[in-house]
Amino acid sequence: MLALEENPNIQSKQSSSTIEFCSRKLSVCFLLFFAVIFVLFQIGLWVFPFSSASSLSWAFFQQSGGKVFNDTTQGQSCGVRHDEYYSEKLLAKLRESVTFLPLKDLRFEKTAMDGHTWFISSLNDTIEAEGEPEFLRFPSEASKGRLLCVKGRSPNNGGMNSYALAWRDALPPGSTLLTGLTFVSDAYYDYGNLWHGITAALPFAWWRLRRGCVVPSRWVLYRSGELRLQMGKWMEKLMEAAFDGSVAVDSLDGADDRPVCFEEALVHRHTGGNMGLEERKAVFEMLRCRARAFCNVGVAKDGDSPPPPLRPESVTLTMLLRNGARAFKNESLVVGVFERACQAVKGCRFLVAHSDGLDFCDQVRILSSTDIVASPHGAQLTNMIFMDRGSSVMEFFPRGWLELAGVGQYVHHWLAKWSGMVHRGAWRDHHGDECPHGPGARGCFDFYKATKIGHNETYFAQWAMQVLNQAKLRKKDGAAIAGDPSTECPCT
Ligand SMILES: *[C@@H]1O[C@H](CO)[C@@H](O)[C@H](O)[C@H]1NC(C)=O
Ligand SMILES: *[C@@H]1O[C@H](CO)[C@@H](O)[C@H](O)[C@H]1NC(C)=O
Ligand SMILES: *[C@@H]1O[C@H](CO)[C@@H](O)[C@H](O)[C@H]1NC(C)=O
Ligand SMILES: *[C@@H]1O[C@H](CO)[C@@H](O)[C@H](O)[C@H]1NC(C)=O
Repeated sequence: MLALEENPNIQSKQSSSTIEFCSRKLSVCFLLFFAVIFVLFQIGLWVFPFSSASSLSWAFFQQSGGKVFNDTTQGQSCGVRHDEYYSEKLLAKLRESVTFLPLKDLRFEKTAMDGHTWFISSLNDTIEAEGEPEFLRFPSEASKGRLLCVKGRSPNNGGMNSYALAWRDALPPGSTLLTGLTFVSDAYYDYGNLWHGITAALPFAWWRLRRGCVVPSRWVLYRSGELRLQMGKWMEKLMEAAFDGSVAVDSLDGADDRPVCFEEALVHRHTGGNMGLEERKAVFEMLRCRARAFCNVGVAKDGDSPPPPLRPESVTLTMLLRNGARAFKNESLVVGVFERACQAVKGCRFLVAHSDGLDFCDQVRILSSTDIVASPHGAQLTNMIFMDRGSSVMEFFPRGWLELAGVGQYVHHWLAKWSGMVHRGAWRDHHGDECPHGPGARGCFDFYKATKIGHNETYFAQWAMQVLNQAKLRKKDGAAIAGDPSTECPCT
């Protein structure tokens, strides 16, 4: 009857005779109906008896929330041959019916990062409480107990890589099961850049902090569905610090084009997404503390005596400089201006560092003892997160950014807020080279991105004095709170 209702053509052809027959022989109809139900029920019992071999049927009833059956009949011999035969057949069918869909769903290209995003687009996220990051979890109630399986290793086409959901009893043929917990990250940008990397990793660090300090067995990284084989060095070190040792980024190799299924998977695909400010602050607090511990900040190097603690009212101003794109046109001049400003303030210590030559722990060490970082716009400024809470950030932009860079130019304002720093504003160069493609033309942003930054001596001197005095006042008030080395980091 259901089929008839769904198909009006068949219904219209047959309905008149059916109704006629039934109206005359209503009682016969009922009898027939119950007879059919009875037979179906018997077949059902015969195909799925209370079987010990049928973990599948047991799984089904578990998944559906039913508590009807229990495998208490373990060891009963009645019908076992049939059970095994049919459940094996069904499992085989289930295995073959696991359907792979593209990891990157181009139907959602225009709203790539909205809602369910274009990555694993058939499923919605689970958010347990407001402010917590959005995750997909496998297996879970939302996945109906199914595991996440992936296939393909394309590094440049997310539509060529695919995913499927499968019950553990019926994983797709030829698949490999990776045990333990896997962090699966899909980012809109990449894992090489410090800023993009850290925003992608933040939700996972949050998970560690808030969910019993778990450490994953492996990470699987995607960028818009494209497989990524590594994080940048800086990111990798930060994650090592956060997650107690080496970070295993799985390249899914050895799987060729065969599926890989994860015993347990935690997927984040929003590059931070809706994470609340308090949650972000808590994660950065953990990252700062663990990175300092990882790099032995404040601990004497072999044989040396520990560095003397700075006087509480002293202030360290660090210029964190770049080479190449967005370096200062006249670096020595700019450094001179800031150095003189520092000299004019009692208790000011002045440092100059070029981020290019520094390894991870050098950066952690320098920023840990910095109260004010002055640096051109760029990924190196992400190191601000290692300063004491309440420290200051001064940023410099080349020409063209205000007009062309969109919201991206405010990333370090956001980062300062998330990590508990104070962004003391940005200086923008208005006098750089003209874009050769004509104002507003395509390619002008890339042109400006690669240019160098000029200076305004008067402005820099006044600005530096102002920020130095603010920082000193703040420190005196005790508003800047150092990571207390006597307390242990979270998840130690
Ligand atoms: C299944 O049976 C076992 C053994 O009798 C019992 O301990 C268990 O609680 C039962 N489980 C359910 C879901 O009824
Ligand atoms: C996901 O959410 C959207 C919007 O709320 C809804 O229309 C859709 O049915 C949901 N999909 C699933 C699989 O729950
Ligand atoms: C930088 O500025 C100093 C001081 O004004 C000047 O002597 C020097 O020539 C400048 N260097 C460059 C490369 O412009
Ligand atoms: C440099 O900064 C000073 C102080 O803010 C300002 O008065 C002056 O106009 C600026 N010079 C240029 C060339 O922009």
